[in-house]
Amino acid sequence: MGSIMKRKKKSYFLLPFLFLISILLQKPTSAAKKSYVVYFGGHTHGSEEAFLDSYERVTDAHYEFLGSVLGSKEKAQDAIFYSYTNYINGFAASLEEEEAMEISKDSSVISVFPNRGHKLHTTRSWDFLGLERNGRVPLNSIWSKANFGEDVIIGNLDTGVWPESESFREEGMGPSPSQWRGICQDEPEKGAGCNRKLIGMRYFNKGYLSAVGPAVSAASARDTAKGGAPNARAAAYKVCWPPVNGSECFDADILAAFDAAIHDGVHVLSVSLGGGPTDYFKDGVAIGSFHAVKNGVTVVCSAGNSGPDPGSVSNTAPWIITVGASTMDREFPAYLLLSNKKQIKGQSLSPSGHPGNKYYPIIRSAQAKAANATEDEADLCLQKSLDPAKAGGKIVVCIRGNNARVEKGEVVREAGGVGMILANDQATGNELIADAHVLPATHISYSDGLALLSYINSAKSAAGYITSPKTDIGTKPAPFMAAFSSQGPNTITPEILKPDITAPGVSILAAYTGASGPTGLAFDDRRVLFNSESGTSMSCPHVSGIAGLLKALHPEWSPSAIKSAIMTTSRIQDNLKEPMKNSSFLKATPFSYGSGHVQPNRAMDPGLVYDLGANDYLNFLCSLGYNSTQIATFSVEPYTCPSKPAKLEDLNYPSISIPNLAGEITITRTVRNVGTPGTYSVRVEEPRGVLVLVEPTSLKFDKVDEEKRFKVIFKAKERNLRGEYVFGRIIWSDGKHFVRSPIVVKTVMHKP
Ligand SMILES: *[C@@H]1O[C@H](CO)[C@@H](O)[C@H](O)[C@H]1NC(C)=O
Ligand SMILES: *[C@@H]1O[C@H](CO)[C@@H](O)[C@H](O)[C@H]1NC(C)=O
Ligand SMILES: *[C@@H]1O[C@H](CO)[C@@H](O)[C@H](O)[C@H]1NC(C)=O
Ligand SMILES: *[C@@H]1O[C@H](CO)[C@@H](O)[C@H](O)[C@H]1NC(C)=O
Repeated sequence: MGSIMKRKKKSYFLLPFLFLISILLQKPTSAAKKSYVVYFGGHTHGSEEAFLDSYERVTDAHYEFLGSVLGSKEKAQDAIFYSYTNYINGFAASLEEEEAMEISKDSSVISVFPNRGHKLHTTRSWDFLGLERNGRVPLNSIWSKANFGEDVIIGNLDTGVWPESESFREEGMGPSPSQWRGICQDEPEKGAGCNRKLIGMRYFNKGYLSAVGPAVSAASARDTAKGGAPNARAAAYKVCWPPVNGSECFDADILAAFDAAIHDGVHVLSVSLGGGPTDYFKDGVAIGSFHAVKNGVTVVCSAGNSGPDPGSVSNTAPWIITVGASTMDREFPAYLLLSNKKQIKGQSLSPSGHPGNKYYPIIRSAQAKAANATEDEADLCLQKSLDPAKAGGKIVVCIRGNNARVEKGEVVREAGGVGMILANDQATGNELIADAHVLPATHISYSDGLALLSYINSAKSAAGYITSPKTDIGTKPAPFMAAFSSQGPNTITPEILKPDITAPGVSILAAYTGASGPTGLAFDDRRVLFNSESGTSMSCPHVSGIAGLLKALHPEWSPSAIKSAIMTTSRIQDNLKEPMKNSSFLKATPFSYGSGHVQPNRAMDPGLVYDLGANDYLNFLCSLGYNSTQIATFSVEPYTCPSKPAKLEDLNYPSISIPNLAGEITITRTVRNVGTPGTYSVRVEEPRGVLVLVEPTSLKFDKVDEEKRFKVIFKAKERNLRGEYVFGRIIWSDGKHFVRSPIVVKTVMHKP
């Protein structure tokens, strides 16, 4: 095995195959071995030649290092399955727990952490995704309006691509941008896999294989597709594979993909996956994105689909743009018409409704409970929970829970039901998702569900039918927050507000393959031209596309300037000119939408930006308690932490979070003029019970790129707000630009 691992550098990219073979040949060893990532910090290299030279040098250094722990370099060569050699310095290896512990004590090591699995941030299961082998063309394409972005390269870390997809048509595109250094892995012959639109494909599966074992066959990069920005170039980095125990994308592979993507020359990385909130340096996404941002690559991540629970947001590092999901003003109504002439509006993308005028009996799923199922299982229409003798020929009402929505319809159909009503629970409220159900079905709100249940309980013979779905546009209110969208506060660093922004992520239409049915389930032999999907994995690529457009318009902007422009120009009003709501139709907060809903046309001209450079992030790490020795390993260049590190609240972030206001705190921010000369004045919307003073109250900019500092003083007016967060905003304006920052504050008791 050692000889396989010690291959010539030219065959580097054959490694996955060789590794697969080597893993198949390998006898199962001590069961105690698990895979770990050992992280040392960063590298810098000058030229392309330096990269190639350093590959062997760094790999060898990793073998030497691990060899000193395991007793021989050969053992180290067997154990290490990735050496990160481009920008990220570290390796992934199979180790016993004691070995990992010992390594973590070495002073050159920043962190050692298990090769943790992450989930894709889609609400659809892999069963759906795995078969859905076609492109997603976002129909509300904000990108298609602008002909920008042709020289921008957007990398996607996810399930890979299906190159034949319509999304990757290359018509009208010039040759690859000159900075591109990536490859098309597995290309049978030059030019056969990629084209001028899809300029790169790589895949990373060694971390997955080492975690789940060789039982699952891991194919190549050709898989499901994700819509990109139509005019930008796409590069695919496949790191997600069929889930095992709920995990599908592993840290070791994620780091390898980041390391490759930075080298390849991408401008933006779109990352629609994540785990639970995790310390930054024990998390592949946080580490990988740190190095990407340090090297000028903007990283956009999904916030997760674990909402609406507080503190559920993932991908919370301050160098990431974290995206929540909200609705659009388009709906797919399908009505339930009841025998009492009442009608209930739901949402559906079922291919058809009932023929009409023929009424079917309506029952609660619990009324059709199988003898061996529990009441709860039947309520949620879990698999095999319904009795065909009771459900046959009826429309069955299922309650929303955590099992897949479309699967509930299949359970009803298997039990002989002729229709399904999916009724929200209280937590999901008005969040209705149009799914391609396998039978006439519609998804109704919590309040409509309550009314329907009372009708079923009171009517002698409840009956109704479901109409075919239609398409409505201009629906109101829109946008509102999806219940599934993960929410703040940021549990890792509450001083940084997360998510940062929200974008459309509910019932996003996508072109669909003729190769499988819209649910992707094996029994589904229907064929459709489009399908709808929901999740923060659908909202994240919208923001990645916008970041790409901004990069094309303003090549000199840093990732943080791009992020600031996107955040400070967002809106928090819906199309009723009311504050954006959550799915209970109550006022949503910055913990769900961050700065607000993205407005790409405004983001092009933000007026002022809150910028941050690599050193600011290093200072942030000092504030988190890392010392100069540890920081030096990230920065590569010499770096000394200030003797008194800045407050976390002073990080020059475009939003402000004060998680522990005891009495009074003063924070600072710096804005840079990227618009025209002019004078900005401040307006404050104070959080309830908190006094907010900004000094100075006006900022005069004589030229472009001028920077000005200001202070914000927060004073608690009331002492005991019972630990509740309160919300406000600071808005700088020159009359033309509006630079808005949300404020979140939690007041605590004064220290005695
Ligand atoms: C999945 O979880 C089960 C039960 O916890 C465990 O026995 C099994 O080894 C796990 N499989 C993998 C590949 O981790
Ligand atoms: C009930 O019994 C059927 C038939 O034996 C079985 O297939 C099904 O899984 C059982 N359902 C539950 C919920 O245990
Ligand atoms: C909506 O906001 C209200 C008020 O803040 C809150 O009580 C409710 O739980 C929220 N609903 C969701 C689904 O987030
Ligand atoms: C920095 O922290 C590491 C790990 O705690 C410690 O080993 C090292 O001595 C510290 N260095 C300085 C300069 O304090």
